[in-house]
Amino acid sequence: MAQGDLRDHLVAYFEDHHKFLEAGALQLLLKDHHPLLLSRQLLEGTPTDSPFVTQAMVEAMIARRAVSTSSGVAGFARLDTAVRSPASARVAAEPFTLIAEGFNEPNAAIGPLGAFESLFLSRYRALHHLLSGRPDLPNVRSLSELRADHGAASVIVMIREVRQTAERKHLILQVEDESGSAELLVPRDSPAAHEPYVSDEVIGATIVFPRERGRLPRVQSVQRPDVPRTRVGGRASRPSRVLFISDLHIGSRSFLDRAWDRLSDFLYGRGPAPELAAEIRHVVIAGDLVDGIGVYPKQERDLAIEDIFEQYAELGRRLAQLPNTLNIIAVPGNHDAVCPAEPQPNLPAKLREQLPRNVRSLGNPSTFALDGVVIEAYHGRSFDDLIPALPGASYARPTEVMKRMLAMRHLAPIYGERTPLAPLPRDGLVIDPAPDILVTGHAHTYGVDQHRGVLLLNASTWQAETEYQRMRNISPVPARAAVVDLTSLRLHSLDFSSEVPRVNGPPN
Ligand SMILES: [Fe+2]
Ligand SMILES: [Fe+2]
Repeated sequence: MAQGDLRDHLVAYFEDHHKFLEAGALQLLLKDHHPLLLSRQLLEGTPTDSPFVTQAMVEAMIARRAVSTSSGVAGFARLDTAVRSPASARVAAEPFTLIAEGFNEPNAAIGPLGAFESLFLSRYRALHHLLSGRPDLPNVRSLSELRADHGAASVIVMIREVRQTAERKHLILQVEDESGSAELLVPRDSPAAHEPYVSDEVIGATIVFPRERGRLPRVQSVQRPDVPRTRVGGRASRPSRVLFISDLHIGSRSFLDRAWDRLSDFLYGRGPAPELAAEIRHVVIAGDLVDGIGVYPKQERDLAIEDIFEQYAELGRRLAQLPNTLNIIAVPGNHDAVCPAEPQPNLPAKLREQLPRNVRSLGNPSTFALDGVVIEAYHGRSFDDLIPALPGASYARPTEVMKRMLAMRHLAPIYGERTPLAPLPRDGLVIDPAPDILVTGHAHTYGVDQHRGVLLLNASTWQAETEYQRMRNISPVPARAAVVDLTSLRLHSLDFSSEVPRVNGPPN
């Protein structure tokens, strides 16, 4: 990233968190090996009520980092170790920067219940951070200190349950914060009553107390953390493009090998638009790299390769078929051979060894910068929970759900349904920083949209329709790929499903 771009990016990042960077602090961050990572550490380590990030705070954080690296504390230390090792000096020189993996080390000292408690506390605090200090949420109070004589106030709360009153059809939000729980009434005629709420999401609400004693506080308006409209996006300062694909499902009988060969030809400049192919430096794969085994009932009937190790060996061969100059980044999905609870770790070493050297295996989700453009890659398992929870949402239009993820600044808030959540100390599914591009898979459809300047992509699949999907009424849109120009975020859609691949460019 060019120094000027990085400066803008850092300032915008702190603004997003309602923090002001002192000039000295900014200088120190710009000089650091890993400014984005250090910025995140600063936000997590500075007191919520201070709006300033001072030079002294940055110095203290750098000192703390040196200590935690040697003692191996928490997830950041692991990343920091990577930053300091000689291998990472090479990585820093490459156009790839890891910002954060969702997966972080479990805390073995606390039991499972305590672990979930600290997971939700981490989520609440991270999103509280994004919501506090906003002009549209004045007079923020904790639930325990709310009193009728405060008149109007705001609260920042996690939603536990939503129900409707039997007679008048008002909504009752059962909510919690760090101080306790409460019920809030959303009058049925208010705009806030017409939007869907998702359990375990964090919202800000302005409330008023009715004159009558004993009545519930009423919600006047609701604010979600969302992506700030003022955010400055990152852009590459040299020509560079990234190809997005997903859901290869290697090992499935339905893997589209002919379409894959066409993709490979295209990348070698032997297909349409060779000038486009020539500028592609990166490939991002959003999970379900292989079909796995025992993922759904009677899956063995759909498998061409029944051994999981062999599936990854074949994945390695398929990826080696692409030009070895590409920087390939792959996150796992729910079909891959890692723990299905999210955030998922990256592939075990034994499977990583099967992949070519130009493939970087990261956890799901992961946030990284490619030539200065911040990308969040998430497989998208939570579509299975969010689609039923959001009226009008469907697998055919996953980008609509992705807009809601950005508004909530969370990839998979709902606990206890189909997406298993890992009880880790830090909630790695909070979307922070807001990316320039959010890419998902899992829906097996192709979708492009944008939300407040963030490009949204659902990156198709290389698996034709399976019997299981027919049964579940899912119609895939396979063999599509998106090529994004990192200098402008302009996008070409590629279709390899027929003999002659098609390229659709952006309107001029
Ligand atoms: Fe999939
Ligand atoms: Fe999936």
